[in-house]
Amino acid sequence: MNGDRIVIFDTTLRDGEQSPGCSMNTREKLEVARALVELGVDVIEAGFPIASPGDFEAVSAIAAACGDRTTICALARSREDDINRAKQALAAAQYRRIHVFLATSAIHREFKLKMDKQQIIERAVASVSLAKEFCDDIEFSPEDAVRTELDFLCEVVEKTIAVGATTVNIPDTVGYATPSHYHRVISHLKQHVPNIDRAIISAHCHDDLGLAVANSLAAVEAGARQVECTINGLGERAGNAALEEIVMAIRTRADYYKVHTRINTRKLYPTSHLVSSITGMKVQRNKAIVGQNAFAHEAGIHQHGVLQERSTYEIMRPEDVGYVGQNLVLGKHSGRHAFRDRVVQLGFTLDEAALQQAFDDFIALADKKKEVYDSDITALIENRLQDAVDSWKLIRFHTSAGTGTIPTATVELQFEEQSAVCDAATGDGPIDAVFRAMLRITGLQAKLEEFDVRSVSEGQDALGEVHLSIGFGGRHYQGKGVSTDIIEAAARAFLQALNREYVDLRSGGVTPVRPQG
Ligand code: KIV
Ligand code: ZN
Repeated sequence: MNGDRIVIFDTTLRDGEQSPGCSMNTREKLEVARALVELGVDVIEAGFPIASPGDFEAVSAIAAACGDRTTICALARSREDDINRAKQALAAAQYRRIHVFLATSAIHREFKLKMDKQQIIERAVASVSLAKEFCDDIEFSPEDAVRTELDFLCEVVEKTIAVGATTVNIPDTVGYATPSHYHRVISHLKQHVPNIDRAIISAHCHDDLGLAVANSLAAVEAGARQVECTINGLGERAGNAALEEIVMAIRTRADYYKVHTRINTRKLYPTSHLVSSITGMKVQRNKAIVGQNAFAHEAGIHQHGVLQERSTYEIMRPEDVGYVGQNLVLGKHSGRHAFRDRVVQLGFTLDEAALQQAFDDFIALADKKKEVYDSDITALIENRLQDAVDSWKLIRFHTSAGTGTIPTATVELQFEEQSAVCDAATGDGPIDAVFRAMLRITGLQAKLEEFDVRSVSEGQDALGEVHLSIGFGGRHYQGKGVSTDIIEAAARAFLQALNREYVDLRSGGVTPVRPQG
């Protein structure tokens, strides 16, 4: 292995989840956490337990389910209550870390905390000491470190290491740094903090200037040995540094960085897909490493070159990131056996009932569509997995529309094990009519904010994938649905978003009332 190992600290479930419209419930977080373990991340920041009962529940569940294989981390402000809550949530984890943070920049000291430098030092030292009573593995973050006076930053880092911080994270909280600037900050700490060798320096970058990955790599060059990142670069505002980009940059340019990670890169694409599917936050087509076009060569001259010798235009092999392309896989006559093998190769673990359901869906699709691709199979399975956990399920719908008629939809939904409910509505078009009927049945309120359709694979008969976002009461919920029928895909996406709104309202103690009649 090339040089030092870089610790990959994944914060998809904490900083990533703070992204508007990307909140996940405990079951969804557990699914992501399990995928992160398989991916090989070193630390999973599972949440911020004091933030809400839901966060506490999720961190506890992840600690119990994954804490014997990967370090589970919980975030806490520098307050006794926060730290105690983090301790409780992590109790079941064999490998655990508390991540304590306190802002240090002049702007935060003056306007947010109203504390002077001495008080900041005292609070940080007391908090790290308190966390240390619970576990050895303690991370301290001077929030907004990049805009903190360097001398003061050195002092805070030195004093928190002295009382037991084993990782010191240097957040670029507002995405203000540039690569050479961030490199200088990390180098300065290495040169001026006398006990810096007793802790790992960590990079934590936000992407407000589109520099999060570049800054993180600059930190690695300067000696940071942990990088904090999220799948697909999910995160507040413009997001955090993208895990897949950091990992593949380190691997592809091992000649330059001379470090390595423990990540199983073949799981990058499936994990990206899972996170996108669960959060409903789609990955842009030309996104590095995991975008649909990341390995597509359009220009003839490139295609020709790649056919002659791959390395002419390809610096990474698609299979190394687990990329599921447009592989033509199975046809209508492929047996169940071949289908099962393909499903396993695509990274799914299905029980017999789920496999049978997926196979039935595949046969139904193969009846409509001559060629079935890996991406189609993935979409069908994800559809079913989502269906299995949603409270409201789509039973059937019918629409009527055309020139000179009023678009009308009749929709039948079922809530958990109760009997199905049917209602009808008119709308501006058939999709709008379906959405309105669903709102009538569920009693939920929502405004459609975004709506996007794309095809999953090639051809006129391709599966259509709808991504949409709805808003209610200042909250945003994403949904995704696939079908060869675009209206059905839209209906599924809308219902997924409504299910998310429902779970959110219920966790806040509100049960939507369904209109009678
Ligand atoms: O961006 C930030 O400063 C954070 C801290 C809590 C580490 O996310
Ligand atoms: Zn952050």
